[in-house]
Amino acid sequence: MANGRRKIAVIGAGNVGATCAFVLAQMKVADIVLLDIYEGFAKGKALDMSQNANVLNYDGRITGTADYNDIAGAEVVVVTSGFPRQPGMTREDLIGKNADIVSQVGQGIREHAPDSVVIVVTNPLDLMTYHMQKVTGFPAERVIGQAGVLDSARMAHFIALELGCAEEDVSPMVLGGHGDTMVPLPRYTTVGGIPITQLMSQDRIDAIAARTASGGGEIVKLLERGSAFYAPGSAAAVMAESVLNDRKRMLPASCLLSGQYGLDDVYIGVPCIIGAAGVERTFELELTADELSSLQGSGNFYKTQLSELLGY
Ligand code: LAC
Repeated sequence: MANGRRKIAVIGAGNVGATCAFVLAQMKVADIVLLDIYEGFAKGKALDMSQNANVLNYDGRITGTADYNDIAGAEVVVVTSGFPRQPGMTREDLIGKNADIVSQVGQGIREHAPDSVVIVVTNPLDLMTYHMQKVTGFPAERVIGQAGVLDSARMAHFIALELGCAEEDVSPMVLGGHGDTMVPLPRYTTVGGIPITQLMSQDRIDAIAARTASGGGEIVKLLERGSAFYAPGSAAAVMAESVLNDRKRMLPASCLLSGQYGLDDVYIGVPCIIGAAGVERTFELELTADELSSLQGSGNFYKTQLSELLGY
């Protein structure tokens, strides 16, 4: 690269993409290319963020573009393009429109950043991540879906509120698809190392799990137009940084399963290690019969959707 700095591309300069770029800028890990089909939109947000560099003391270059040539050399590409939910819609209602967008973006990435690790944020998340892997033809470990970091963070927040404890002491675990079938796992969710099953009643745990599963919808309803973006954009930035700096963070993320949990050829959220190679390892937790059946229900729901709605 001309200036010797590393590069991250963020595709889609909407609320999620711009938030992701803004968080990455503050991490000072790389130059950032913000790409959008609306060139002025990408350039305007990039310029605004660049003018903030002196205020917040970040030093990477942030540029806006509509040209896929500009993502050449990006080690990580975060894909946020697509339509967000409106009130009353499920994430799955977005599938037709967003699948076409992912096809176009995937072709651009395949051509111009063929060695990158791709982090997908576009909804319906697990289906779009599968579609992206097919369109790019990249090995599955280089195409990862962001959802578990966000869903787990939501659960962590509700737990911190309930217990009156610091957010940072909560270690949450939410697996499965990013939708109504997501699987919060209270037995694997700890606060200061103590499982929440020892810290609150089953009723409160059930209420928190339910609020977590509908956490995105709660925000869509409040906003009345569009969906959440601070936490989704930040979650994608954290994953991108783990790839770029080979941090090997252990995070829940949407990965292509090949037999784990009795599921095959479907993307859903599982715990994994994310480093320079993308998904470096996935983990199979010991689950109770109920937990396993929820996770398999989630995986099978998306398998059906892949075949019925996307023709896979
Ligand atoms: C959410 C959307 C971004 O969960 O999927 O808020």
